[in-house]
Amino acid sequence: MTVSVAPSVATGSLLSQPRLEITGGLPLAGDIRVSGAKNSALVLMAACLLTRDTLRLRNVPPLTDITAMSEILAALGVRVQRGGDTIDLDGDQITQAAPPYELVNSLRASFFCIGPLLARMGMAQVPLPGGCQIGTRPVVEHVKGLKALGAQVTIEHGVVTAVVPGRSHRLTGGHIHLDCPSVGATETLMMAAALADGETTIDNAAQEPEVIDLARLLIAMGAKIRGAGSPTITIIGVERLHGADYAVIPDRIEAGTFLLAGAITRSLLRVAPVIPEHLGAVLTKLEEAGCTFEFDDSGVTINARQIKAVDLRTQPFPGFPTDLQAPFMSLLATATGTSMIVENIFENRLQHVAELQRMGASIRMQGNTAFIEGVAQLSGAPVQGTDLRASAAMVLAGLAANGTTTVRGLEFLDRGYADLEGKLNAVGADIRRLYEEPGAKMN
Ligand code: UD1
Repeated sequence: MTVSVAPSVATGSLLSQPRLEITGGLPLAGDIRVSGAKNSALVLMAACLLTRDTLRLRNVPPLTDITAMSEILAALGVRVQRGGDTIDLDGDQITQAAPPYELVNSLRASFFCIGPLLARMGMAQVPLPGGCQIGTRPVVEHVKGLKALGAQVTIEHGVVTAVVPGRSHRLTGGHIHLDCPSVGATETLMMAAALADGETTIDNAAQEPEVIDLARLLIAMGAKIRGAGSPTITIIGVERLHGADYAVIPDRIEAGTFLLAGAITRSLLRVAPVIPEHLGAVLTKLEEAGCTFEFDDSGVTINARQIKAVDLRTQPFPGFPTDLQAPFMSLLATATGTSMIVENIFENRLQHVAELQRMGASIRMQGNTAFIEGVAQLSGAPVQGTDLRASAAMVLAGLAANGTTTVRGLEFLDRGYADLEGKLNAVGADIRRLYEEPGAKMN
């Protein structure tokens, strides 16, 4: 049964925050469907700023982050139409090159608009997005790269202003070496270079599947790009790009979360659609932990019985993704033996440790390293998701724990998981979304 009642605005009490109530210990079985990739969809949406034609994106997940990006693009003058999982973006009438702070601050990925705005309008003024729950998240590499393409960039009063000098207002191709393979910087610079005059190379580029997805979309729009998915990307600028009709790749992080849901409940679960190469490091670690897999045309079935301890370190793709570090830790909290997880990408991405400890996990911390001694049984408890993926980790732990787990912090979860409880309930979980204060009467 799903209970879904409007929140009590009158009380405003912490107790009335929406929450998930999970009854743990149930095995999962059947098929679970993966939505389109959030991190791809967000950047592909920004690419609409590069053309006057309509960009149609399919397989866009219904998430609050996508709504936030739609609002930002609309504030710039883009006509946005959403219907089901399709979104039409018409950037013919862009009136603004300066998205408002309130909107940019609510969605870090919106900073990536600076590249296409600059390429199309010759100027862009975007507030610095600031840090977030998992770390400081600088944009130095984005700015350095835009300068290499001929932009003059100043940062004052928390706003980045980028201008292309000269009459043509056109960026010029250049050579960019990223100090770290930043996903956002690679994407920003690929979009900026797509309309620049001449050839651009990006060295030490990010190799994430979302970067390849963006390159494919830009190529479908008429761009000339090669090497996406390798450390060196070459872009030969064109004068204009046209519209396209393009489907977003499946979300590898959501797929990984579902595989982990299968593993933590020791179940047989089919996850689809997936692109197995996008999940390489995750599948390898799950295999090391004792899971087996069967692949078919579009999906993968995980079979999990006993889980053994494994060590892992987060790394840029094709290494183990930082976005699955917290969910994987929930699994290892139930493994036989002691595991070690090193978080190398973000400096503040181990806040879920304290919450897992509330559920009986045995975890010791040393800097950015967690030593996890598996326990025979987690116990249900009230917990708080401290960021998007930490919230998912709490849900996974709740599936395996005995008794009831209450997860708060759903504003994070809803940014990146489309109907997580609905999808898990359809394969046998018991998760209810509640808005009422505990003990309040529900009609
Ligand atoms: C993207 C993903 C996010 C994921 C992350 C790493 C989106 C919308 N978000 O974020 O889910 O966790 O990749 O896979 O796609 N860095 C610098 N200087 C910079 C830029 C980044 O030092 O100028 C550092 C960051 O502090 C971090 C690392 O590089 O340590 C990775 O960041 P980056 O790849 O830029 O992450 P995002 O693109 O913000």
